[in-house]
Amino acid sequence: MSEIAEKSKLYNLHSWAAQGALDPTVVTRAEGIYFWDEDGKRYYDMSSQLVNSNLGHGNRALIEAIKNQAESLPFIGPGYALDVRSSAAEKIVRFAGPAFEGGKVFFTNAGADANENAIKFCKEYTGRWKILSMYNSYHGSSFGASSLTGEARRFSAEPGVPGFFHFDGPYAYRAPEQVHFETEADVTSYYLGRLHEAIIREGQDLIAGIFMETVVGSNGVLAPPTGYLAGAQELCNKYGIMLVLDEVMAGFFRTGTRFAFHQFDVKPDIVTFAKGSTCGYVPLGGVLLKKEIADFFDENKMWNGLTYSAHPMGLAAMIAALNEYERLGIEANVKKLGGVLAEVLNDMTARHVSIGQARYIGLFSQVELVKSRHTKEKFDAPTIAKVVRLLSGKGFATYSNESGIMVAPPLIITEQELREALAIFDEVLDEVDKLTN
Ligand SMILES: Cc1ncc(COP(=O)(O)O)c(C=O)c1O
Repeated sequence: MSEIAEKSKLYNLHSWAAQGALDPTVVTRAEGIYFWDEDGKRYYDMSSQLVNSNLGHGNRALIEAIKNQAESLPFIGPGYALDVRSSAAEKIVRFAGPAFEGGKVFFTNAGADANENAIKFCKEYTGRWKILSMYNSYHGSSFGASSLTGEARRFSAEPGVPGFFHFDGPYAYRAPEQVHFETEADVTSYYLGRLHEAIIREGQDLIAGIFMETVVGSNGVLAPPTGYLAGAQELCNKYGIMLVLDEVMAGFFRTGTRFAFHQFDVKPDIVTFAKGSTCGYVPLGGVLLKKEIADFFDENKMWNGLTYSAHPMGLAAMIAALNEYERLGIEANVKKLGGVLAEVLNDMTARHVSIGQARYIGLFSQVELVKSRHTKEKFDAPTIAKVVRLLSGKGFATYSNESGIMVAPPLIITEQELREALAIFDEVLDEVDKLTN
């Protein structure tokens, strides 16, 4: 292990891991869709650093914007108005489209605290206290966001914050055995039924907000079936519940549209965002409130605040990123290459028995691996970790959840680069196929 890695292990705590066995790769530089380790080895960045670096590495416009802001006014408290603050807010509210006309934004530092503040907005606006979210979800690792999270990463924070309840969101591939779907409409109807049941059981008049990742990200890249979000919104409208869409991972063209919700028939009350707003060049997140909620705070005090809310460095980066998405034609690139990704993944699924299901939307995909296609049995954790290591060994850097491999490259990737990288995955799957029953 190199000196840098050893020192890192000595002083850093790396996320979500028992520290002893870690052997962190030392990264020395990054450019475009690639990064390099200290031995000069090049990696395709095939999950964009936790689905964050949508514009890839080394984007000059972003770097210049941050440098210029650092020169002019790196920080001033969130209570002051300044050019970059006003312009950034206008830009993101407009980016959110008609659902947020007349709306406002509250800027945060990242995704978890965007959700923390969205929880408070729901409670402040409705006067209610319960919050519902999917079991199959991740919303951040701070204490409230952990309670909001449905999957196992919430356990360490439990018993957690009172008032948080979970329901089963759409996941047709792993639906209960006794449930059979003939059509997509059956899937929608079944899972809306599950949601409705949860609402009634928890008391429709007690629920302040229902949180959903528009497209579930780290729990499998699960796009909602047609009509699901519209149906969820109808239920929310009926019972006076706020529908909050978490776009922290799915936003900023990852799925092909500005926010993922723009391609579904839904007008959320609140949207949370982070990652792709600055592509990780500096931290930023935010909460978008529709007009009625924003107006509510004209007369009612807003009990939300952060020292770093609307930090000028983050806002300068966000403005530059939004301009770059436009200048580089990212929406068109994702549309085109999303088609290529779908085609290659479908072809791989036809040839590799270890693929249970490959799911994709835009340049956001997950390949769910199974030990047996027949029983859908998952591989154990060490095997999945081995697959990630095999990929990394061949220069395909990504991460996994318990059964799936994330494929979500920077949105600037070219067709040739995408095909080259997927050819590496294809090769590794030859090895994984040998481990199936
Ligand atoms: C959907 C979703 N929400 C929230 C978060 C938390 O964001 P952060 O890690 O910036 O706090 C994540 C992080 O991956 C996420 O994927």
